[in-house]
Amino acid sequence: MFEIVAKESLAPVLTKFVIRSPFIARKRKAGHFVILRVDDHGERIPLTIVDSDAESGTITLIVQTIGKTTKLLSLKEKGDTLLDVAGPLGNPTPIENLGTVVCIGGGVGTAEIFPIVKALKEAGNRVVTIIGARNKDLVILEREISEVSDTLIIATEDGSRGLKGLVTDALSDYIQSNGHIGAVYAVGPIPMMRAVSNFTKPFDLKTFVSLNPLMMDGTGMCGACRVTVGGETKFACVDGPEFEGHMVDFDELIARNRAYADLEKQSLERFERELAEGGLIHG
Ligand code: NAD
Ligand code: FES
Repeated sequence: MFEIVAKESLAPVLTKFVIRSPFIARKRKAGHFVILRVDDHGERIPLTIVDSDAESGTITLIVQTIGKTTKLLSLKEKGDTLLDVAGPLGNPTPIENLGTVVCIGGGVGTAEIFPIVKALKEAGNRVVTIIGARNKDLVILEREISEVSDTLIIATEDGSRGLKGLVTDALSDYIQSNGHIGAVYAVGPIPMMRAVSNFTKPFDLKTFVSLNPLMMDGTGMCGACRVTVGGETKFACVDGPEFEGHMVDFDELIARNRAYADLEKQSLERFERELAEGGLIHG
């Protein structure tokens, strides 16, 4: 069992959990993820490890409440336990000193870009980070990211904080007024990662994206997370989760991720009905 040692609400539907898991805390690197089950009735969900503390034996996860399992998780409190947390899974992000690099976090993807920003900074890069959100209330981890970035640019769609526009507008401004960039790392909604990759392609600018297909076992056995990269089938859990953005078939990824959208919606609605009626909170 894995104890929740801290819980904090970061924004509407975004919750931070600190979970006791000494082995994972010792071993994890930027880019690694875990697969967790809340209880023995639950499905497995993959979550990027946002941070860790080897001394206290804890890892940090940030969860967006979008379906039944993430809703169930969001109801857990400090002191509660989770059934299993398996990891660290996946490959660490390729980190090297490339001079100036741009890291982009869109919405909840800001949580996933944080460990990459930190690792790139520790490797000696000059790190420019762009955070994109729909409005100022959805901007997360601003202090933590500014502490490990040389430049932080915030873009909100309604202009309530920072530049008005999308992350690609901020990237375009930055590229026009600055010199050479070694690489771009982008994590966020799939349309965002596709837009960033399309934008950087004509510049032949190396672009890494972190793919989030449906996952089950996280060990390369089930095939649920297959993606097409450079015309080849890859498994995001063991070959990724990061891939070269210019090679990814984003249309296929979007279509596959939509496959169970109706079932997920029905499952969440049933769960919320049961909760409101004071019934089961699993099943
Ligand atoms: P959102 O839709 O609010 O978008 C956040 C920001 O991303 C926007 O403000 C904008 O700056 C940028 N963006 C979005 N679409 C864009 C486009 N077409 N072109 C250019 N920029 C664009 O984000 P959200 O609601 O926080 O995101 C939720 C989605 O992100 C979920 O579907 C979730 O599964 C996914 N996600 C992916 C990862 C990953 O590992 N890739 C991690 C966490 C969440
Ligand atoms: Fe099963 Fe990747 S999640 S192969």
